[in-house]
Amino acid sequence: MRVFSGIRPTGNLHLGNYLGAMRQWITIQEKEDCVFCVVDLHAITTPYDPKNLKANIFELAIDYLAAGLNPEKCILFIQSSVKEHAELAWLLGTVTPLGELKRMTQFKDKSKQHPEYVNAGLLNYPILMAADILLYQTDIVPIGKDQQQHVELTREIVRDFNKRFGQILKEPRALLPQVGDKIMSLTEPDKKMSKTGNPKSFIGLFEEPESIKAKIMAAVTDTGKDIKFNPVKKPGISNLLTIYSLASGKPIEELEKQFEKKRYSDFKNSLAEYLAEYLKPFSKKRKELLTREVYVNDILRRGSQKAATIAQSTMQEIKTAMGL
Ligand code: TYM
Repeated sequence: MRVFSGIRPTGNLHLGNYLGAMRQWITIQEKEDCVFCVVDLHAITTPYDPKNLKANIFELAIDYLAAGLNPEKCILFIQSSVKEHAELAWLLGTVTPLGELKRMTQFKDKSKQHPEYVNAGLLNYPILMAADILLYQTDIVPIGKDQQQHVELTREIVRDFNKRFGQILKEPRALLPQVGDKIMSLTEPDKKMSKTGNPKSFIGLFEEPESIKAKIMAAVTDTGKDIKFNPVKKPGISNLLTIYSLASGKPIEELEKQFEKKRYSDFKNSLAEYLAEYLKPFSKKRKELLTREVYVNDILRRGSQKAATIAQSTMQEIKTAMGL
């Protein structure tokens, strides 16, 4: 089965990106045919500084490797290095209903967040994402919950396209983790953890133990003192329980029992310790990779060549079917 996914180089990778998406990538690369991409063309739809973008793109590629992607087991490349992504996005734009784009939650959220920067690229963002996925005739897209709507739209695009032009494109499906598909902000537990939020609201994947501890201890919790999983009544504690469970491998019920008569601060102290230990190997690997620029560039160059071969072949079929 073909697997495709990507992350935007728009800030520090955080625990939500890892637990929602990347953790699935690391396991699935062992058994399926995986393609992972740094989606830089998506990053320019929201405000950014061109002076920093190149470094951010390269560092995200390093982050992928530090988090456990194995270049011998998957294709790893930068989206803008394979020109078929932008080309297919144009073609798919001609079969995507405008109304569908306007109702996308991410478009609405980002338009509100940056009212001065509502460009056509932001509206067309899901078409480029569909192009990313469809160029590789993808079966499975491992993502967090916030991207599910875009994969649903991709499926609709496939159905409309195939109805008009023949059975050319494969209909992909989203793969969400059973636990952790929406990790919430530490400061506002009713909102998702995000790269661009208040630094106290997220834990970076490569954060130092002291800083992890400070953020966990300051995380917003709920009234009452029970350590019980109830996302509606206790969103703060439930989010921390989810993170604890994923970092420690202990089921949530077991954690509830373990901390039955304990205080929030005992629970948070213990979580901070587990988390620091869990994330330690990532920072170590990242520091090492930062000194190996030639090696990383070589991986990206080879990845780009392999990706382009697949993309060009799909593109040829699509163009022929569309009468181009
Ligand atoms: P991006 O860069 O916003 O996020 C990358 C991945 O992390 C997941 N994620 C989360 N999961 C759980 N809890 C959270 N708080 C959280 N925040 C982010 C996202 O669901 C995503 O899987 N449009 C995509 C990038 C993209 C893409 C693609 C993905 C472009 N082309 C093709 C898959 C296939 C995005 O902006 O992700």
